[in-house]
Amino acid sequence: MTQSPFSIRLIDIHKSFASQPVLRGVNLDIERGATTVICGESGQGKSVLLKHILGLLKPDQGQVLIEGEDICRLKGAALNQLRTRFGVLFQGVALFDSMTVFDNIALPLRERSRLSEPEVKIKVEKSLQMMDLGGSADKYPDQLSGGMKKRVGLARALQLEPDILLFDEPTTGLDPVKSHDVYRLFFATQKRLGYTSVIVSHDIPKIFNLADKIAILHQGEVRACMAPDELQRSLDPFVREFIIRVMGEFHHSNAERAQDFVFKE
Ligand SMILES: Nc1ncnc2c1ncn2[C@@H]1O[C@H](COP(=O)(O)OP(=O)(O)OP(=O)(O)O)[C@@H](O)[C@H]1O
Ligand SMILES: [Mg+2]
Repeated sequence: MTQSPFSIRLIDIHKSFASQPVLRGVNLDIERGATTVICGESGQGKSVLLKHILGLLKPDQGQVLIEGEDICRLKGAALNQLRTRFGVLFQGVALFDSMTVFDNIALPLRERSRLSEPEVKIKVEKSLQMMDLGGSADKYPDQLSGGMKKRVGLARALQLEPDILLFDEPTTGLDPVKSHDVYRLFFATQKRLGYTSVIVSHDIPKIFNLADKIAILHQGEVRACMAPDELQRSLDPFVREFIIRVMGEFHHSNAERAQDFVFKE
């Protein structure tokens, strides 16, 4: 049997809170090993959608398949087992202020793996290098810039080598230049490690050309899910309006795009 190219499939998801419908038949297939950005206006249900992927919310109707398994049917140990495949980075990052950068990154390994302390050290030091945090191991979170905190959060989310990484607005609180740097690092890291990445972001157009697919959530449905260049060429009036509204005078050459993938060694 050939493996489906989709790591996550949302099939006809409906969700209401009290009498307020939020998701009204969401269909979305998320490719394995690629970066999918979910965008849409505030209050459209992006965070609610991510919570369905994690099994934190159950749909009123529809299915959430993670590698073919319906997460809504799982409970207890089986649900926890499936969740170990996820890394999650929510808005606030939530580093532990009383722990150093090193200890923050080491935490999942110390709590959830059986690695010895010397093995933890090797792994954490490798991550520090990868995230360009070499000199910061002994610093505390309040001694870091916003961008550095995000990088520590990403390093920590990656420690258990998840298959799927979910980010909800990962650059909140950063200035535009820093948030672009953080995105570039996220994408370069994803390309290097190959996990499936789902990012909820308001930062269109910054994030636009870095994504493999962009899904637009609008009025309870995914109205389009396409590669950035397909979106730009789309004749669908809704997509055209979206592009004009959010992209404005946006120009990005392929040469610039290639630059975005150069990894800082
Ligand atoms: N647990 C809940 N109980 C009741 N209503 C909720 C709950 N979670 C979300 N909602 C409602 O669902 C709608 C979508 O919320 P959601 O947080 O997903 O929006 P969002 O697209 O992530 O917005 P933002 O871009 O501002 O983060 C909102 O109207 C919100 O009030
Ligand atoms: Mg949200």
